[in-house]
Amino acid sequence: MFAGHSERYSKIKNDSGLHPDLLRELCEWEYDTVAFYERPWMHNLQQLYSGQRQLGPWTTRGALRKYLGDWYRYPAPREVSYPHHLSHAAAGFQTSTFDRATVVVIDAIGELDTISIFGAEYVNGRAKYKLLWRQGYPHSIGLMYSAMTARVGLRPNEDEYILMGMSAYGRPNATALMKDALVDNEWSVTFRQNLHLGVDEAFLAKHLENDIASSAQSLCENLIYNVMRRAKNFGWSRNLVYMGGVALNCLANRNLGEYFENIWIMPCPGDAGGSLGAAALAHGGPIRFEHAYHGHEIGGSYPVNAVLDSLLYDKIVGVASGRAEFGPRALGNRSLLADPRGNDIKDRVNEIKRRQKFRPFAPVILAEYADEFFDMPRGFTGSPYMQSVARCRQPDAFPAVVHVDGTSRVQTVDNNGSGIRQLLEKWYVMTGCPMLLNTSLNIRGEPMVNDRADADRFEREYGVRVHS
Ligand SMILES: [Fe+2]
Repeated sequence: MFAGHSERYSKIKNDSGLHPDLLRELCEWEYDTVAFYERPWMHNLQQLYSGQRQLGPWTTRGALRKYLGDWYRYPAPREVSYPHHLSHAAAGFQTSTFDRATVVVIDAIGELDTISIFGAEYVNGRAKYKLLWRQGYPHSIGLMYSAMTARVGLRPNEDEYILMGMSAYGRPNATALMKDALVDNEWSVTFRQNLHLGVDEAFLAKHLENDIASSAQSLCENLIYNVMRRAKNFGWSRNLVYMGGVALNCLANRNLGEYFENIWIMPCPGDAGGSLGAAALAHGGPIRFEHAYHGHEIGGSYPVNAVLDSLLYDKIVGVASGRAEFGPRALGNRSLLADPRGNDIKDRVNEIKRRQKFRPFAPVILAEYADEFFDMPRGFTGSPYMQSVARCRQPDAFPAVVHVDGTSRVQTVDNNGSGIRQLLEKWYVMTGCPMLLNTSLNIRGEPMVNDRADADRFEREYGVRVHS
């Protein structure tokens, strides 16, 4: 019914609190249970173990008081908390269409777990999870990737996606060195040192930053695929549900089809999605999850014709309509759209977004034409949530939406009646091109636009029409 991000209300990226306006919208629905996505006492144990002094509440009630603040005046009839990785797993499995699946969770650190493999199935309509294997702190693929993010001068726990983008510009020539220095056992994913503390500046000092990024990506992929092999070998299911912050690595995701036949990554696999997982566990059964538009609503019908006119005339246009996306990607309801053809569009959009020139944009395409333009990855049913890259078959015709390595992060839109679907259909009729460039509508340094006031602010600041 509703799922939103606090950051979209406070305008603070990755806001760890709960904003009153978010809670206000949430409370328009009646609730009988408040579910929290980790065990507070386990989180404190992890903090103690990793040498961090800042401890939070020890009980579920304490955590709810802390995060809900004034809203915690009327305790719910039921208050529950669930283990962090189980919350990730449930957010994935219970939103999937699978009756049975192998669930892999990989993140930086959740309580003391860093990798979990579950066997999931429904018994009498309720989801059951059997833990098949786990790895624990400090051995963590996510922490390794964050340590390398910091090593190249980016912000850990924030800029990992930039490291992934950089990786295409380097060569993985330090992978073996990196592995020898850091990895103790690549099969069970153990490391020689606690990478939570990062590596010192002299680590791989002779290598270029782009090569370090490329090597970190390569090592990360090797370790992920080892986990996938292990998960497959349990023989629990040919269906994979993959969750946790590391599941956002869309480069690594392109090869998951080598290990599993059918893959589901919920559009919000990171910690924000864990909230939905906790709710799913309290609910018990499957959740019908047909799209990612679950946040703040900007009312009115999707401005198809106005957007089309702006596209034809200005080539670039913003749209803020309907309910906000749950998850990190703009999927058409809070998007900056552009004509993907031609050579100058990438620079123009980059100028508006004021971001690093090397970062590519994503195409959004009518699903039925995806195979004509892209080699879509195996295992996924289309790519409605942009979770994997695909090789572009005509990189020269669409330079704005193809990365330097020849891949694109494609969003496919099937016949689901959404606003972006109607827009693409009309755009195709008028131009013969079934795709658009799609990037998130946000003011630099801020999270995605949420409400109409944000959209107006964007329009004023950048001089680009935003239709809502
Ligand atoms: Fe997590």
